Amino acid sequence: MIELDGIDVSYGNIQVIWDLDMAVSEDDGVVSLVGPNGAGKSTLLRVMSGLHPVDAGTVTVWDEDVATLTPSDIVRRGFVHVSEERNLFGQMTVRENLEMGAYTKREELDEMMEEVFEVFPILEERSDQLARSMSGGQQQMLAIGRGLMAKPRILALDEPSEGLAPQITDRVFEKIEGISEEITVLLVEQHVNRALKMADRAYLLENGRIVREDTGQGLLESEHVKDAYL
Ligand SMILES: Nc1ncnc2c1ncn2[C@@H]1O[C@H](COP(=O)(O)OP(=O)(O)O)[C@@H](O)[C@H]1O
Ligand SMILES: [Mg+2]
Repeated sequence: MIELDGIDVSYGNIQVIWDLDMAVSEDDGVVSLVGPNGAGKSTLLRVMSGLHPVDAGTVTVWDEDVATLTPSDIVRRGFVHVSEERNLFGQMTVRENLEMGAYTKREELDEMMEEVFEVFPILEERSDQLARSMSGGQQQMLAIGRGLMAKPRILALDEPSEGLAPQITDRVFEKIEGISEEITVLLVEQHVNRALKMADRAYLLENGRIVREDTGQGLLESEHVKDAYL
């Protein structure tokens, strides 16, 4: 469970998150975090991953203060964040990229890779291909697959549909729905409609504040969301 309690976050002297509360547990299914560009969604994921400090409030990762943990401690505890940039190693093969995601011993690594190949058969077919030569959709699947290699209990995906054609986006979302049957997915999206339809719970973030928190369906039906996002 990741808990944000009354957090303020800034870059230099510019505050971007204000007194924000949020919680995601490993029993949540899909939690969507939606909101416009610049609202602070990616910043929140960086805070949860131990990559950016808070100015006030507390962040706990399975009951431990984030400030006492390194980013890799956080991954080991079960929170894995696939960033917007994907950060693949373009000169390395698909298989090598997947190996980089693993935090475990060799034999377990092979097992995890088999599981990832079951979710994304394309990655097995292309396992010896260089990551940079894959299509955008395939690279996104590789980034998610690499996240799965770390055996997350909560997998956070930052704008997985970004830059993908609609048809490819559909395929990626189907995969995410499948993954969410096994582990909690924290889905950050500007595709508000899609992300809310999939969500068990959802937060709407605007200008660094949570302005609504509800079930995915509840948010979809709210006048504010309908007017501003749909
Ligand atoms: N590295 C950074 N340095 C300075 N400001 C940043 C940085 N990253 C993000 N910001 C600012 O923080 C705010 C929130 O950004 P971000 O978390 O990326 O929003 P979102 O992911 O919702 O689009 C924006 O005003 C953005 O300009
Ligand atoms: Mg972002």
